[in-house]
Amino acid sequence: MMAAEFSNPTKKSRMVVMVLWMLVLLGFVVLLSRSDKTSEPVRMPRIVQLYERAAKIERASRIAEAKEALAELMREVTLGRAALVSVLDWRTADDRDDSPALRRAVRAAQAMADEHPKLRVVVHMPATRTYLLSPVTVSARRLELRIDGTVQAHNKPQLPVVPTFTDKAMSPELQRMQYAFVRITESRELRLTGFGTVDGDGEKWWRQRKLDPTRRAPVLILVSESNDVEVSSLELRNSPFYHVVVLRSHDVKLRRLNISSPVSSVNTDGVDVLASTHISVTSCWISTGDDNVAVKEGSRFVHVQGGVFYRGHGLSIGSLGERGTFASVRDVWLSSVAFIKTTNAARVKTWQGGQGVIANVTFFNLTVSGVGMPIVVDQFYCPASQHPKPCANASKAVAIDGLTIDGVTGWQTSGVAAMFHCARDAPCRVDLRNLHLAPAPGCSNIVRCLNVQPTPLTGHSWHRWRPSASSPPLEAPCRRGDEMHGYRLDLTRQERKRLAGNFSCVHPHRR
Ligand SMILES: *[C@@H]1O[C@H](CO)[C@@H](O)[C@H](O)[C@H]1NC(C)=O
Ligand SMILES: *[C@@H]1O[C@H](CO)[C@@H](O)[C@H](O)[C@H]1NC(C)=O
Ligand SMILES: *[C@@H]1O[C@H](CO)[C@@H](O)[C@H](O)[C@H]1NC(C)=O
Ligand SMILES: *[C@@H]1O[C@H](CO)[C@@H](O)[C@H](O)[C@H]1NC(C)=O
Ligand SMILES: *[C@@H]1O[C@H](CO)[C@@H](O)[C@H](O)[C@H]1NC(C)=O
Repeated sequence: MMAAEFSNPTKKSRMVVMVLWMLVLLGFVVLLSRSDKTSEPVRMPRIVQLYERAAKIERASRIAEAKEALAELMREVTLGRAALVSVLDWRTADDRDDSPALRRAVRAAQAMADEHPKLRVVVHMPATRTYLLSPVTVSARRLELRIDGTVQAHNKPQLPVVPTFTDKAMSPELQRMQYAFVRITESRELRLTGFGTVDGDGEKWWRQRKLDPTRRAPVLILVSESNDVEVSSLELRNSPFYHVVVLRSHDVKLRRLNISSPVSSVNTDGVDVLASTHISVTSCWISTGDDNVAVKEGSRFVHVQGGVFYRGHGLSIGSLGERGTFASVRDVWLSSVAFIKTTNAARVKTWQGGQGVIANVTFFNLTVSGVGMPIVVDQFYCPASQHPKPCANASKAVAIDGLTIDGVTGWQTSGVAAMFHCARDAPCRVDLRNLHLAPAPGCSNIVRCLNVQPTPLTGHSWHRWRPSASSPPLEAPCRRGDEMHGYRLDLTRQERKRLAGNFSCVHPHRR
């Protein structure tokens, strides 16, 4: 059979063409992998170019997946297994925007889902349309909400008033998270998906919040007091405040979201998790002006896996223990995320004087490109923006008991590969392996240490990342004991930013 096939001349030439194509493809792959592994960091414009190209491919693939899911849904509708409730059918002439129609559609869909327990019921916002929404609350069970069009926050003629919550029992952070454009609360088995966009029109809010940081602004999508919720495929952008907040909820999956706001935006965290368990953030692309992901007090079993964090502050655990409070975070897994031009990759931040513990946290297989200070563990967190007065030097601190960092590869722009700033009287147990970090040209490549016990940090394999004459190798961290390497408190934030932007660094290498 084979011989016969090969003797066929047209098939033979097709084979030849195929082999040639495969060779070209292979060449491409080799070229790409090479450019990733050059010993000198690639230049910023090139990084941005590569990112944009990859984002285009990711976007096309994500939209294709979401469209396929819609086609599948339509097949189920024709088979009578699913029902669509279109928001367009619930509009009335008196509506100021589409929020009332959405509320009516959800109510109708809920009645249908309750009546037919086997039926898949979907509230639909069809494509090629823009829906104006004022703040809306959705409370649903066993429902789907598909956004294939564009949802736009309705801020006209003026911004909605954000009620201030004065419940003293709530932490300041909890109070800030109470208000949202789309608030999903007391829901279960709810899916929010589609190839559409939710745009928070945040610009006006950021301008106000730059002038008055105490001014409250709404979260774009809040999931609170809910179980078994999935948010996927959507494009979420320009949130007035945090983009997605998961609050006091369990079993929430965020998958393949594209979250983006300009770097200049204010407090536009990508995803915040607070007092929630079994939360996953999978293959999300997040680009913001603040933390890409933040894991806050009372969270357990949070998995962040895959995807790209482009700009923003990376993933943060904390800050915990502000104003002497008790706060813990446990069981966090962060892996296989690519960080591009973020200020940090992974940070753990706790305030002096707090109590509680950060335990069983793993950062695994991270890649960083043009990232400021990739790894930060700080038990003295006290930024001037949040705490203008001098910081406490208390003996109490939130313990860091079991942080594993295994595999960070790439290059940094600050001159500092990692910082371990630990309190004298609180445990700070960090297990560090496989740091393969190079500095930007002209920068040092140091690890700052304070109160780090040598035990967990020695005896691990320390790799140099293709050292060359111009890139100083990373020396074994904390080998010389406490060494903050002249932590440049003398530089203002602006000076540091300018230096990093200019490819120089905060801490130039001294020979
Ligand atoms: C995410 O959305 C932004 C803004 O619409 C877009 O520029 C970017 O390419 C998108 N990225 C991905 C990965 O879809
Ligand atoms: C540690 O955290 C991971 C990630 O959430 C979890 O899978 C694992 O079960 C935790 N280990 C213990 C001992 O709790
Ligand atoms: C490490 O992360 C990259 C993506 O950044 C992924 O392609 C690779 O499979 C991951 N490796 C492991 C061992 O998880
Ligand atoms: C904090 O207090 C300890 C003693 O309690 C002292 O050794 C240390 O130098 C102080 N640190 C700062 C930054 O003041
Ligand atoms: C940027 O770097 C160049 C070359 O190293 C230097 O001449 C220039 O003064 C720097 N610019 C700033 C704003 O620091």
